[in-house]
Amino acid sequence: MKFDSKNNPPFSFSSLSHKHNHVFVKFAVLSLLLGLGFRLFVYNPIQFPSETPDPSSLLGENVTFQPPADTSPVSGDLPVDESLPASENLTSRNVTEKCDIFTGQWVPDSSGPYYTSETCQYVETHQNCMKNGRPDSGYIYWRWKPSDCELPKFDPQRFLDFMRNKSFAFIGDSISRNHVQSLLCTLSQVEEAVQVYHDKEYRSRRWHFPSYNFTLSVIWTPFLLKAAIFEDIYGVSSGEIQLHLDKLDTQWTEQYTNFDYVIIAGGKWFLKTAIYYENNTIKGCHYCPGKNLTELGFDHAYRKALQLIFNFFTSSNHKAHVLFRTTTPDHFENGEWFSGGYCNRTGPFKEGEVNLTAVDTTLRNVELEEFEKAVEIGSTKGATLKLIDTTHLSLLRPDGHPGVYREFQPFAKGKHGKLQNDCLHWCLPGPIDSWNDLVMQTLFSG
Ligand SMILES: *[C@@H]1O[C@H](CO)[C@@H](O)[C@H](O)[C@H]1NC(C)=O
Ligand SMILES: *[C@@H]1O[C@H](CO)[C@@H](O)[C@H](O)[C@H]1NC(C)=O
Ligand SMILES: *[C@@H]1O[C@H](CO)[C@@H](O)[C@H](O)[C@H]1NC(C)=O
Ligand SMILES: *[C@@H]1O[C@H](CO)[C@@H](O)[C@H](O)[C@H]1NC(C)=O
Ligand SMILES: *[C@@H]1O[C@H](CO)[C@@H](O)[C@H](O)[C@H]1NC(C)=O
Ligand SMILES: *[C@@H]1O[C@H](CO)[C@@H](O)[C@H](O)[C@H]1NC(C)=O
Ligand SMILES: *[C@@H]1O[C@H](CO)[C@@H](O)[C@H](O)[C@H]1NC(C)=O
Ligand SMILES: *[C@@H]1O[C@H](CO)[C@@H](O)[C@H](O)[C@H]1NC(C)=O
Ligand SMILES: *[C@@H]1O[C@H](CO)[C@@H](O)[C@H](O)[C@H]1NC(C)=O
Repeated sequence: MKFDSKNNPPFSFSSLSHKHNHVFVKFAVLSLLLGLGFRLFVYNPIQFPSETPDPSSLLGENVTFQPPADTSPVSGDLPVDESLPASENLTSRNVTEKCDIFTGQWVPDSSGPYYTSETCQYVETHQNCMKNGRPDSGYIYWRWKPSDCELPKFDPQRFLDFMRNKSFAFIGDSISRNHVQSLLCTLSQVEEAVQVYHDKEYRSRRWHFPSYNFTLSVIWTPFLLKAAIFEDIYGVSSGEIQLHLDKLDTQWTEQYTNFDYVIIAGGKWFLKTAIYYENNTIKGCHYCPGKNLTELGFDHAYRKALQLIFNFFTSSNHKAHVLFRTTTPDHFENGEWFSGGYCNRTGPFKEGEVNLTAVDTTLRNVELEEFEKAVEIGSTKGATLKLIDTTHLSLLRPDGHPGVYREFQPFAKGKHGKLQNDCLHWCLPGPIDSWNDLVMQTLFSG
């Protein structure tokens, strides 16, 4: 089983030879899965949007929603401090400034997650791997161990104390929503959040933690730019995305001054077919054969987007603490999401056993380059920008995705047809929980 970038022919972003075409198609289609994932964030049993499965779905199977089990999270169910391995005393957990918390390895950790599918109501159906019947559970017994220090496990009590009277927003695509659900599940062990806002499709939401007067938001803006997206709720496109490379999505920018902390992320949606606009004029496109437009490449668009985003942060009079999370890798093996690719590994990779794909490498390089420039500009303007570089450590976790367990009991009798794998979003609980260890450490270390 090969799993590396060598299977993807090298390609240039500005030329579309025949050979290169299928690569672009692959990535364009793969990312439709993101579109699918977004729309399935609907579990509120009371306000349940009436959505019927669309037979034209590219996935060729019924998509159904499952309301959550009627269980309330158990407050204080899991002890916080005792869950740390005994070897971790305060000295060894000291994280020095020199320690790069994003370089390290996954080590076994018998303490396990703070929550389960039974104790957290925020887990979206398609990421509820335990409840959907995933048989192995080894994937929840690992923790990220930086090479040069210990990373303290996320402490929900400490986090809520820190966030008293504050507001924190997750801004991005369905992976950001995946991430905020992990945070909500963990925090709800201390206090249950009260939902104070949701949009029609439950993609953007806001919660309040009453005892802490802490407001947590998630804003769905997959490009972070102004974009017209013509997709139904299953991610099936009825027209090219129109993306304005010189305009930010006001959905999040207009709210920005309300936030003390933001974590932004993106990337994968830029792989989709899109027509690029600047000054309301078509400048080119990404993957639009037959359109007689200049192929500008997704890296061009993503770079422009990040420049605009970072410039917004550094030039705004409002100085929130800005965290920028790098792109998340997928783990489809022996195919893509639409061609039988799957992810059924049950443990992490070791260093050197896997390489980032060419596309993820491109996205991440653009991210690091633009972030570095922004930090420099920000430092002259009093703007704090910090990197949450989850790409590599997440790459080592092929075992962390729902795979076929995006669906309830995929192998149950009576089910037929090809099973769809999700090797992009993350199981909850799962490795994505560790992203919050990194967020907390980054926020608390200044
Ligand atoms: C979808 O589900 C409905 C009802 O559950 C069923 O009647 C229909 O045959 C299913 N369609 C497919 C393509 O599986
Ligand atoms: C703390 O841990 C370090 C390294 O694991 C060990 O050398 C040290 O003796 C421990 N200190 C205490 C007080 O347990
Ligand atoms: C722990 O951190 C503090 C300040 O952050 C530093 O002064 C101290 O030397 C560190 N201790 C060790 C053992 O690294
Ligand atoms: C939170 O806000 C309340 C009301 O404005 C204030 O009394 C309290 O001191 C604040 N707490 C913190 C930690 O800022
Ligand atoms: C809650 O926090 C906000 C700031 O985010 C503050 O303006 C407000 O006074 C606080 N309310 C209470 C009841 O502490
Ligand atoms: C944008 O387009 C308008 C006409 O629609 C033109 O007047 C203006 O000069 C253009 N601006 C730039 C920066 O190209
Ligand atoms: C493609 O666009 C160019 C420049 O806009 C134009 O000269 C050319 O005729 C167009 N080709 C086709 C086949 O439409
Ligand atoms: C993963 O799935 C493939 C294809 O179905 C199968 O050949 C392989 O044995 C599976 N591996 C595990 C660990 O289940
Ligand atoms: C990763 O890439 C390096 C350098 O191209 C190569 O030597 C190595 O074999 C690759 N590893 C895997 C697991 O494909």
